[in-house]
Amino acid sequence: MNDKNKSKILVTGDRPTGSLHLGHYVGTLENRIKLQDSYDCFFLIADLHMLTTHHDKVDGLNENIIELVIDWLSVGLDPSKSCFYLQSKIPEISELTVLMSMLCSVPRIQRIPTLKEKIASMNLSDNYSLGLLSYPVLMSSDILVFNASAVPVGEDQLSHVELTRELARRFNSSYKDILIEPEPLVSKVSRLVGTDGQGKMSKSLNNSIYLSDSEDEVKKKVMKMYTDPNRTSADVPGKVEGNPVFIYHDIFNSDKEELDDFKDRYSKGKIGDVEVKKSLIRNVNNFLDPIRQKRREILRNKGEILDIIIEGSKRAREVARDNLELIKDAMSLNFR
Ligand code: TRP
Repeated sequence: MNDKNKSKILVTGDRPTGSLHLGHYVGTLENRIKLQDSYDCFFLIADLHMLTTHHDKVDGLNENIIELVIDWLSVGLDPSKSCFYLQSKIPEISELTVLMSMLCSVPRIQRIPTLKEKIASMNLSDNYSLGLLSYPVLMSSDILVFNASAVPVGEDQLSHVELTRELARRFNSSYKDILIEPEPLVSKVSRLVGTDGQGKMSKSLNNSIYLSDSEDEVKKKVMKMYTDPNRTSADVPGKVEGNPVFIYHDIFNSDKEELDDFKDRYSKGKIGDVEVKKSLIRNVNNFLDPIRQKRREILRNKGEILDIIIEGSKRAREVARDNLELIKDAMSLNFR
């Protein structure tokens, strides 16, 4: 363990909207697993953020929270090293959101590309909720209430971390220099294409391979994967670059010799899609096997998951409470 950094705080998290997939793994989970040994990590279950887009879909929320934690545990996030906590159990986050909302203009938020995309993809036009508009401020508060130094996120969340940095600067120059400007940490593959080759892997697009998928599900999904649309038969030279099957091979196939041979033959029209896909199925299943094994162990002790969340939320709340007090003091919100 690197104790030098363990004193530094890291915050990141996920919305409890369903199972995590390979895109989450390469985009952020893999990074988190490594960072656990060098930072004091706070892993957030962002249930309030879930409400910003699904306020009326609260059936099954508790199950989704448990599912998320099972996914985390199955890949090796470890509650004995890190703190797992539920956003709605830390009212200090919501209070800080109100305070931070004084420090940024509405047009500044409206210009955030991630928010614009969300509004467009949900066909909300100008009919979005105040809650959705304040999504980035809520996320900034998640980070600032712990005075975190590091925030591992996928590329799509960078604009939110940028806002957080801006709010920290504005706070420091308006009141007192106490907030850290957090650094975003982006992984090498920050955006994994979906099995349909159309956009990034995402639950709503039905193009995902989940961490909890069985061997058979992986097989079915890979066999249906989009490859090079111009390749009508195995003897037509195919495109390797940008081909989702090869993007996945590059990540999950550690036999570089085999992979180079596949690429060479594919681009010359000397190998069928099926052979390349069969190898990918093996490799993805090899990657998922230890995760599946861990999931089975966790499911035997499912009762412990509740304790992990309750205990983690207690600890997170203590840290948040102390920090919020300093923040309010700096703002002269300390009438006594
Ligand atoms: N918005 C993030 C996502 O959708 C989740 C999130 C909420 C988050 N609060 C955060 C990530 C704070 C990092 C830090 O992926």
